[in-house]
Formats: sequence, C-alpha cells, structure tokens
Amino acid sequence: MKLVVHQILQHGAAVREIRLRDLQGQVLPAWHAGAHLRLQLPLAQGEPLQRHYSLLGPEGAAQEYRIAVLQDPNSRGGSRWIHTQLREGALLEVDAPVDSFPLQAGQGRSVLVGGGIGITPMHAMAHALNARGQDFELHYLARSAERLVLLDELRALPHARLHLHVGGTAAALDDMLGRYQAGASLHGCGPVPLLNTLRERGAALGWPEAALHFESFGARAASGDRPLRVHMALSGKSVDVAPGTSILDALIAADAFVPYDCKRGECGQCHSRVLDGSPLHRDLCLSAAQREQGLCICVGWASSAELTLEL
Ligand code: FES
Repeated sequence: MKLVVHQILQHGAAVREIRLRDLQGQVLPAWHAGAHLRLQLPLAQGEPLQRHYSLLGPEGAAQEYRIAVLQDPNSRGGSRWIHTQLREGALLEVDAPVDSFPLQAGQGRSVLVGGGIGITPMHAMAHALNARGQDFELHYLARSAERLVLLDELRALPHARLHLHVGGTAAALDDMLGRYQAGASLHGCGPVPLLNTLRERGAALGWPEAALHFESFGARAASGDRPLRVHMALSGKSVDVAPGTSILDALIAADAFVPYDCKRGECGQCHSRVLDGSPLHRDLCLSAAQREQGLCICVGWASSAELTLEL
C-alpha cells in the first residue's frame, strides 16, 4: 500500500520518528505489539531498498503508523536516506505489518529490556501491557542520556516501572533479571552482545529459555572474519563465501535448498549440521547441545578456512 509521510519528528540528535497515514485518511490494517513494517525506500540508483522497522505506540487498527529510525553512521543507505532525503508529504510503498516478535507475557512478572533503538518494539509492548492493566518493568539502556528517546510517553504509562540505565554494566543486567520466578517473562531488543549477555546471565539466574524472548539488530560479521569455503557434503557442491555475506545467502545464491525464516539467528530454521571445521556461533536461539551439532548459517561463521555442512 502507498502511505503518505504525515509527520516527521526529531528525537534527540540521532532518531527520527516517521508517522505514516493513508492518502484518503482510511484506518490502517491492525497490528500487534512487536510487529514490523516493511518500507520500500526509493533510493537514487538500482532496486528499491527494503527496510524493516518496529511499530511504535498502541497496537490495533489506527489512523497512522509510527516508526523511529536511528541515524546509523555505518548505514548502507536506509537510515541515511530517511534522515537526509525523506520529507513530510512524500509517498512510501509499505507492506502490511508483520507480527514478527509477539508479546508472550502471562500473568507473572513481566520485564521489558530495550537497548538503544531497541526501545522501539518495547515501546509498543509497554503500551500493550499497560492497556491490559498489567504492571511491568521497563529497562531502557543507552550509552548516554542524550540517546534516551520517547521518555515522556513511557513515563506517562501508569503500569510501567521505568528504569533508565546509562552506560550500564553486566552487574546491572543481573539486577534487572533477578532470580526467575514461575510465570515470569522477559522480552528484550537490542544489539546482539547485549542479548547474548542477557541470555547467559538469565540462564545463570534460573530463567528457562522459553521465558526469554529476543529480537536483535546490528551486524553479525566481525572485522576479523576471513573468506570461507563451505562444502555441502550431500550435494557435493562447494561455495566460496566472502566476509559480510552470510553463509545462508551464499548457499541460496548457489541454488542449495536450505530452510530458513528470520535470517537473524532467532528462529533456528537454518540450523545445519557441521561435519568438519570450527564454527563460530552468533545466533540467539540454539542451546549448547544444538551448537555442539551444528550452526545457524544465517549469522554464523567459522574460524577455520573451510566448513563442511550436512547439506
Ligand atoms: S533463519 Fe532464523 S536462525 Fe537462521
């Protein structure tokens, strides 16, 4: 559907909020907290760039969709274009919201953790829990106080206990997790290292995997990654993968059949058995036992020059 940029709001130095409406003022398709909106950004050259952004505010059918975009100095085009080129009144091609990170809170203790721009899905979840009349803790982590955004709205939610953590440490994560209590849930969104630490500390404090729900962002490639040759033992094919390309994308490009879903190391669909080589795990979903057996190839890499998969 084509939507018009109704309003652009600046939050601090680095975050722009975009409010989108139907051209005729029609009510937009309903969405649930944690949903994404996919935008097709008409960059100057080549194919439109597709970018996913979490929806902000109260879920449901509404007059407008709200997203917030961080200006990323390492942007490959999306956030830079939104921050420098997008104007109020512009038309954007937008797909219907996708419920990619559903809120799975029961009646027990409910903890939301947003790191940096990862506050955006937590903003929607905070509204949803508040609308249910359910008390919850919202922990918002940022590198500096200037980077905290949308605070007025979050402070106005009567069921929220808002905790701000500026320049935090692992000890602060232990405090926010606390020991697991039956029925508790934690939803977190932020950079991968933060979520991995939450997962590790959560396990140490008795949190079962099923009570921890994460959505990640940020690059998984590491600066020390070296080119990799991937062998598919069953098909007999081999593929060279350059750092910065995922193993999964390279195998798809080579016409290999590999199941996948999220492409972000969160669902486990692309888990592939490793027969030889030294995998580097960068997912958020595999158990230690599953890591012994294989690798999420949408985000994983290898410290060896070659990796053999049972594909
Ligand atoms: S596709 Fe979801 S973990 Fe790889």
